[in-house]
Amino acid sequence: MKTRITELLDIKHPIIQGGMHYVGFAELAAAVSNAGGLGIITALTQKTPDDLRREIERCKGMTDQPFGVNLTFLPTVSAPDYPGYVDAIVEGGVKIVETAGRNPQAYLPGLKDAGVKIIHKCTSVRHALKAEKIGCDAASVDGFECGGHPGEDDIPNMILLPRAAEELTIPFVASGGMADARSLVASLALGADGINMGTRFIATQEAPVHENVKQAILAANELDTRLVMRPLRNTERVLYNPAVERLMEKEASLGKNITFEDIIDDVAGVYPKVMMDGDVDAGVWSCGMVAGLIHDIPTCKALIDRIMSEATVIIRNRLEGLLK
Ligand SMILES: Cc1cc2nc3c(=O)[nH]c(=O)nc-3n(C[C@H](O)[C@H](O)[C@H](O)COP(=O)(O)O)c2cc1C
Repeated sequence: MKTRITELLDIKHPIIQGGMHYVGFAELAAAVSNAGGLGIITALTQKTPDDLRREIERCKGMTDQPFGVNLTFLPTVSAPDYPGYVDAIVEGGVKIVETAGRNPQAYLPGLKDAGVKIIHKCTSVRHALKAEKIGCDAASVDGFECGGHPGEDDIPNMILLPRAAEELTIPFVASGGMADARSLVASLALGADGINMGTRFIATQEAPVHENVKQAILAANELDTRLVMRPLRNTERVLYNPAVERLMEKEASLGKNITFEDIIDDVAGVYPKVMMDGDVDAGVWSCGMVAGLIHDIPTCKALIDRIMSEATVIIRNRLEGLLK
């Protein structure tokens, strides 16, 4: 399948693995890229730019295919060493960066001068248009369904994707709620050039996370996520667990007066405990509604091959068949 995204990124299949904190290590990125998609290492999971340098080298040792690095701009007071991470990306010869969080404009010149293509992940048409205007090469349009941060507009992909198609000139992928060939074909029909998956890629053989995390996603259905941190305008879709219940009670009782300090224990330092130690109730962690569509733990290659072959069947048999 050839789309504007496979052409832009020089990949075989229009499937991207979104950056994920404490999931997007070299093992997963390389497995996705070796399977013909675009794997992505998550920069901020690496404590320092030098750690990211080493992770990029590790990934190069596992694949000769293109892979990317996710650079998430966090709403924190003490910002990570973003210029250092950008240097590590450029010096490591990485040619694709997924930016997310805030406007990446300040870092675009350094990246673009080095020939890096930028995919900006955003949750609204206006932010996607801004990304286009400042020179991003593609957008990853993240609907309300998505695991992680869906923004504050609450527009599901059935509306968001065709709206993006109406407005954008640059290629874009559909993100949030993507799991299988049906997701891919539907996204293409709605005007996207491919898909970006997060939660689906956690439940794969190569995702270097504890087995408990994969089993928790398998056990969950589409009703099992919640939105937290909405009062702080930092909404996150997470898998429901006792820690989420406690956090939601705190949010309800403190109301509009809640501050980040009130909830820091519930949300800070959680990912290593969940993803590495397998303590899935240690705190709140991102998960998409798409958990309801995840029923197995395939290799990345088996997953991507299945999506591509079933997409062909849907297009050729089901859709073409409707016209007869
Ligand atoms: C566990 C987890 C951690 C994530 N961490 C990040 C992150 O650090 N930076 C980022 O830009 N997106 C992050 N995301 C969002 C994903 O890259 C992707 O946009 C999202 O998962 C798409 O929705 P889906 O889960 O329905 O596929 C994370 C998602 C999950 C599930």
